[in-house]
Amino acid sequence: MDSLQNFLRTRRSIRRFKPDPVPDSVIRDILHTATFAPSAHNRQPWRFVVLTNSRRKEHLSGAMAEEFQRDLEKDKLPHDEIRKRVNRSRERIEGAPAVVVLCVDMSEMDQYPDTRRRKAEYLIAAQSVANAGMLLLLAAHAEGVGGVWVCSPLFAQEIVQKALNISGTWEPQAMFLLGYPDESPKARERKPLAEVVKFI
Ligand SMILES: Cc1cc2nc3c(=O)[nH]c(=O)nc-3n(C[C@H](O)[C@H](O)[C@H](O)COP(=O)(O)O)c2cc1C
Repeated sequence: MDSLQNFLRTRRSIRRFKPDPVPDSVIRDILHTATFAPSAHNRQPWRFVVLTNSRRKEHLSGAMAEEFQRDLEKDKLPHDEIRKRVNRSRERIEGAPAVVVLCVDMSEMDQYPDTRRRKAEYLIAAQSVANAGMLLLLAAHAEGVGGVWVCSPLFAQEIVQKALNISGTWEPQAMFLLGYPDESPKARERKPLAEVVKFI
């Protein structure tokens, strides 16, 4: 059990990758494990789009960069800063040997006539999908594959759908950049338990 705790505590977000490809069989194993996540009503609303081809990654990063740039211009950031951030975002996506876009599909979730319950149902579907995201990262860690959760697809859902040519029911929630680690980052600080836990 100690070694499992240690395994869980030693996962790190990895943002620099060796250029070596991650074999499709390894990606499939990782995604298969991700599907063992718990989900509300066991509806399994997660969907995954895998990109390993450079042209497809460039197409996605280019489409997302345009939206990112428009958002940063709205924030009135200096042009140099905008260029720097947009380029960094493109390089990160294009430099990852594998990119997995994680989507939620609401079509098999419960339908409600009122906004309150519709919102709650959407949230539990998103929570279920996030569980799969967490398992994906841990399964990657188990395979010696590094990964990082990237939230930008949530800010550009329609653009990502269009770039990936996916159906309207697959709503992008996040993206995982995966590859063999080319860095060993230190553990990021965690809040002390006393700050986040109340025994009552
Ligand atoms: C919902 C979510 C969104 C995140 N979005 C990003 C992101 O857009 N870019 C990024 O570099 N890291 C992102 N991260 C990774 C966090 O920065 C990272 O998990 C945190 O700093 C703790 O570091 P660790 O994962 O190495 O323990 C995200 C993580 C989560 C769970």
